[in-house]
Amino acid sequence: MTDTFPTWRGRLEYVCLDCGARYPADDLLYTCPRCGGVFLLRDLDFDELKKRPGAEWRALFDARAATRVTALRGIFRFYELLAPVLDEEDIVYLGEGQTPLVDAAPRFQEEVGCRFAFKNDGQNPSASFKDRGMACAFSYLKWLCRRHDWDEVLTVCASTGDTSAAAALYAAYVGPPLTSVVLLPHGRVTPQQLSQPLGSGAVVLELPGVFDDCMKVVEILAEHYRVALLNSKNSWRILGQESYACEVAQWHGWDVSGLCLFVPVGNAGNITAIMSGMLKLRELNIITSLPRIFGVQSEHADPVWRYYAAPPAGRVWKPVDVQPSVAQAAMIGNPVSFPRVRALAERYADAFGAGADRAFQVVRVTEQEIMDAMIEANRHGHIACTQGGECLAGLRVALAAGLVGGDERAVLDSTAHSLKFAGFQDMYFNNGFPPEYGVTPDPALANRPELLLAPEEREGRDVASFARLGAEAVAKRLGLRPRD
Ligand code: F0G
Repeated sequence: MTDTFPTWRGRLEYVCLDCGARYPADDLLYTCPRCGGVFLLRDLDFDELKKRPGAEWRALFDARAATRVTALRGIFRFYELLAPVLDEEDIVYLGEGQTPLVDAAPRFQEEVGCRFAFKNDGQNPSASFKDRGMACAFSYLKWLCRRHDWDEVLTVCASTGDTSAAAALYAAYVGPPLTSVVLLPHGRVTPQQLSQPLGSGAVVLELPGVFDDCMKVVEILAEHYRVALLNSKNSWRILGQESYACEVAQWHGWDVSGLCLFVPVGNAGNITAIMSGMLKLRELNIITSLPRIFGVQSEHADPVWRYYAAPPAGRVWKPVDVQPSVAQAAMIGNPVSFPRVRALAERYADAFGAGADRAFQVVRVTEQEIMDAMIEANRHGHIACTQGGECLAGLRVALAAGLVGGDERAVLDSTAHSLKFAGFQDMYFNNGFPPEYGVTPDPALANRPELLLAPEEREGRDVASFARLGAEAVAKRLGLRPRD
């Protein structure tokens, strides 16, 4: 019965990671009303799912790869593990999920020194992984609106550019009663990212400062006004993003041994979701071992790295002031999901078995390493964003430090499409980085268009004569030899 929507329903509740308080999932909550802690959603009936053997789950998810049920084509291929309270009619599908995992070309793998692939989450509809979480959050909002008969819901989010693009896209698709407002740090999202919520018709508001400032503002809005918060503080986003873990496991035939996942860390929702997703698969015996997970941060926004760099007994959580970063989408000094990372990293290490200290690690890279890696990846046929470049830089750092062995395989999360970050590529090619980034381009990699003829040379010529002139100019530039 893979071509029908599942009849199984779980019972989800919010669990506060600080005080353990629990709340039913039929209300939109972001932080614990009792202590202000962040939530994860838990299915009270998760143990029921364990009654089905791992092999049966694997067969079910594999069979669903061919489903014609729209609601199950994207992230909800893994419905039972994500949000099994939603009804089919609520599920919003815009083509998110099931993104390709592209092996690096053999010569590139050889050069880097281990087997690796990019998972191109930039091939989601709004060109970033945020669509996974947004598909779940919007499906949930539709479900809530139906249950409570709400006729007006204003969604808000702060963003470094991609959350806002995704939120605006899904709101535009669903339409009333949902409308979208996005709050952006002025001048800190790329022109391409800015064009997205504008094109989707969202109300786009900007404030001076950085993402962390905007995040504080939307937190106050969510606490005091009737708005629906769409940042990953909203636990439904996390559930949707767990689909990434499921897809990685499924693509590897449910055998993730020897696999190292590299994930850029900003607000820390994505890495939370990936750990959580893998743990669920393990608990249901869908996979029999866990992959290793590496968070990657730039030295210009590295609070999570700093925390884990200290010995376990001396770890103190401290937000940092960020510096301009080419991994701008992850340029966050006070990630709201840090408590989730801390809780899940512990659970992850416990479930990992032998070598638990290698289960979850965080590496730090320079801005220079990020930019060089992104440019190189894309010159080898990838479509990596700067955060994808950050993952490749992280793999290199981990290999050099002996944290990853040449016999392991890495999956690098290219969290967005390269085109969103074209401006950083321009700065690299034109040696245009402001000094605060600390990036010196490799001139050998610079690439620029060359204008072969002056505009006047087009004027007054018919197409045929201009084509001859153009062909001559191209042949001369390339040193082409005439055919015999
Ligand atoms: N990569 C991209 C392309 C992102 O947009 C983000 C976060 C991250 C990585 C970091 O992921 O926050 O889950 O740790 N962007 C958010 C936004 C903050 O507003 O678009 P994270």
